[in-house]
Amino acid sequence: MTEPRTIAPASGKLGLLMPGLGAVASTLIAGVLHSRQTGEAPLGSVSQMAHIRLGKREENRNPLIREFVPMAELDDLVFGGWDPLSPNALEAARHAGVMKDADLAAISGELEGVVAMDAVFDQKWVSRIEGVRVKTETNKMEQAEALIADIERFRTENNCDRLVMVWCGSTEAFQEPSAVHASIEAFEEGLRNSDDNISPSQIYAYAALQSGVPFANGAPNLTTDLDCIVELSKREGVPIAGKDFKTGQTLIKTLIAPGLKSRMLGIRGWYSTNILGNRDGEVLDAPENFQTKENSKLGVLDTILQPEVYPSLYGEIDHKVRIDYYPPRGDEKEGWDNIDIFGWLGYPMQIKINLLARDSILAAPIVLDLALFMDLAARAGESGVQEWLSFYFKAPQSATVNDPEHDIFIQQTKLKNTLREWMGEVPVTHSEAG
Ligand SMILES: NC(=O)c1ccc[n+]([C@@H]2O[C@H](COP(=O)([O-])OP(=O)(O)OC[C@H]3O[C@@H](n4cnc5c(N)ncnc54)[C@H](O)[C@@H]3O)[C@@H](O)[C@H]2O)c1
Repeated sequence: MTEPRTIAPASGKLGLLMPGLGAVASTLIAGVLHSRQTGEAPLGSVSQMAHIRLGKREENRNPLIREFVPMAELDDLVFGGWDPLSPNALEAARHAGVMKDADLAAISGELEGVVAMDAVFDQKWVSRIEGVRVKTETNKMEQAEALIADIERFRTENNCDRLVMVWCGSTEAFQEPSAVHASIEAFEEGLRNSDDNISPSQIYAYAALQSGVPFANGAPNLTTDLDCIVELSKREGVPIAGKDFKTGQTLIKTLIAPGLKSRMLGIRGWYSTNILGNRDGEVLDAPENFQTKENSKLGVLDTILQPEVYPSLYGEIDHKVRIDYYPPRGDEKEGWDNIDIFGWLGYPMQIKINLLARDSILAAPIVLDLALFMDLAARAGESGVQEWLSFYFKAPQSATVNDPEHDIFIQQTKLKNTLREWMGEVPVTHSEAG
């Protein structure tokens, strides 16, 4: 046993604020309401369904994570968000077409009650969307102040004890960090001058942190990877995490690549292509938005395979990622992977994967887990980048100068060992003694 952390209790209501009430956010809200109403398990949620082993195997201690750590309950959650298009979560769910009308019927009143606040939106960053519910402020500092006022109003009106924010908005156009992102001072000056390099998602992150609200980034936008936002999260003592929910093809990639590497099988090429017909697919059809996603998807293999350590196995991989917007498919995307591998004596072999997934069904439980774990982290006194939540991200942010960890099994161990340490339990090393 180690000394446990002091973690404040999860009393009262937890508000989950989502910029972007689209397919993912509406599916998350609908799923939580459905679970609350029916008592059915929230499938795919690690925080709700996974057990955690404590101590040595023979001790047979294996509680549910949600019973081991002091976590908010599903009944404590209140939902809110901003969107330039969706008027409320019911309309968003209907537009997304992820859930059947029959599944929405019993919760339609509650979904309709989640009314979108007017968004901070700029079409320069998402060319395929014509925003209609958009804040009238044009100065970026005034936009941030308007968001801070929204956050405080939501907190009071819903009697929330604590809040968390998870970005479920569209992927913004590709961007490199610039001078305005170098420090809090430069960023605030940039907000006052409405600097062109400050995107809407950055304004939400700033507003959240200034309000003491943890912020997780589900899209591949830079948002939390910026020096100014990291500095602000530390100064305000608030956790941040990012970026880009790990679902679909990348989830499969991070399941398979560590397995091949563990057996020292070589990889010569990995070709991934997707067809996707939801609004996310439409936004990603714009080359400047796709570039943001492509960068986030491409980083995965290098870190897992360590080509610098294993040049003969992974030094020469052609890694290609394609996404095509194909409206007939809606949210039910299809992905194909062709993996050219080689083994003993260099003989080539191939793996083909055909994944018929539902994007938002895979992403929704990630939003729930991130909200609950970010709230836990805040109550445990954490601030800055929450690397232990890398498990959920395609392009995880590292808290140090080290590369982020992409191997999902190492990420899972890190997540569970962090919880063990906070609760005063020894980390599980899977050694002979343990
Ligand atoms: N579904 C997945 O598997 C998955 C995986 C990884 C990442 N993501 C990312 O999650 C995000 C949400 O995905 P989705 O399928 O729900 O997309 P979606 O298009 O259905 O929803 C995004 C919503 O964000 C809104 N929006 C755009 N700019 C905004 C702003 N400035 N403020 C507030 N709202 C804004 C849009 O109007 C839209 O309703 C996307 O960025 C996507 O790339 C999704």
